[in-house]
Amino acid sequence: MEKGTLLYEGKAKQIYSTNDEEVVWVQYKNSATAFNGEKKADIDGKGVLNNKISSLLFSKLAEKGIESHFIKQLSDHEQLVKRVDIIPLEVVVRNVIAGSLSKRLGIEEGTEMTKPIIEFYYKNDDLGDPLITDDHINYLEIATDEERSVLREMALQVNEVLQGIFKEAGVILVDFKLEFGKDRSGKILLGDEISPDTCRLWDADTRQKLDKDVFRRDLGSLTEVYSIILERLGGNSLCT
Ligand code: C5P
Repeated sequence: MEKGTLLYEGKAKQIYSTNDEEVVWVQYKNSATAFNGEKKADIDGKGVLNNKISSLLFSKLAEKGIESHFIKQLSDHEQLVKRVDIIPLEVVVRNVIAGSLSKRLGIEEGTEMTKPIIEFYYKNDDLGDPLITDDHINYLEIATDEERSVLREMALQVNEVLQGIFKEAGVILVDFKLEFGKDRSGKILLGDEISPDTCRLWDADTRQKLDKDVFRRDLGSLTEVYSIILERLGGNSLCT
C-alpha cells in the first residue's frame, strides 16, 4: 500500500489517500486540543499512544463482532482504515455522570447511573458541536430514524464490550464519544478513534483520571496516564 496525498487534517490526525481508493492512511499527531481548540499543546508521544490504544481497542471490538473502519496498525503512529463518509454526529455514551452532563444537569461528577445515556452532538466546529435532538437530526437530514436507531444500538454494543475490556484492566469507563461513517455500499461502520482523548477513564480503585481531563484540567502528565491505559490493556508503550 502506498501513501498518497493529504486529504484532510483534523485536530489530532492527518488522513492521506492511498493507491486503493477504498482505503485511507491515518497519521496520529502529537497535538492536544481542548475546549473546541481554545487550549492547545504539542505533547511528544501522544500520537503513538493514541494510535496504539485505538488500534488495540478496534481489534478487540472486531473480535467481538463489532465492525469498524480499522484495517491494521502500520507503524507507531500510523493506521490503515477503510474510507468512509463520516456522518456529522458525535455519539456520546455515558455510564457515570461527568463533564458537560454534570454541568447541564447540576449533578455531581462521579454519580453512578443505572443505565447508559446516549447523546447526539452535531459535528460542526463553527457551532462548537452542540447537543441536538432527534427532530434536529431529521430536519438537517443527517440521518434517518432508522439510521439513528442503528447508531444508538451500535453505540450500546460498543459500550458493553468496552466496559468489559476496561473492567478487566481495573478501569471505569465513565463516558466516551464515537463517530460513524458509511462505506461505499452505504453500510454504517464505527470510525474515527477510541482512545483516552475520546473516553473518560478512571482507575477503579483510586478514581485517578487516566484520560484527556488530565490535559483539560491541568492534572499532570498526559503521556504518563495514557501509558498506564496502554499497558493495562496489554500493549507496549515503547516505540519500535
Ligand atoms: O465534554 P463531555 O462531557 O460532553 O464529553 C463526553 C465524552 O465525549 C468525553 O469522554 C469526551 O472526551 C468525549 N468527547 C470527545 N470529543 C468531543 C466532545 C466530547 O471525544 N468533541
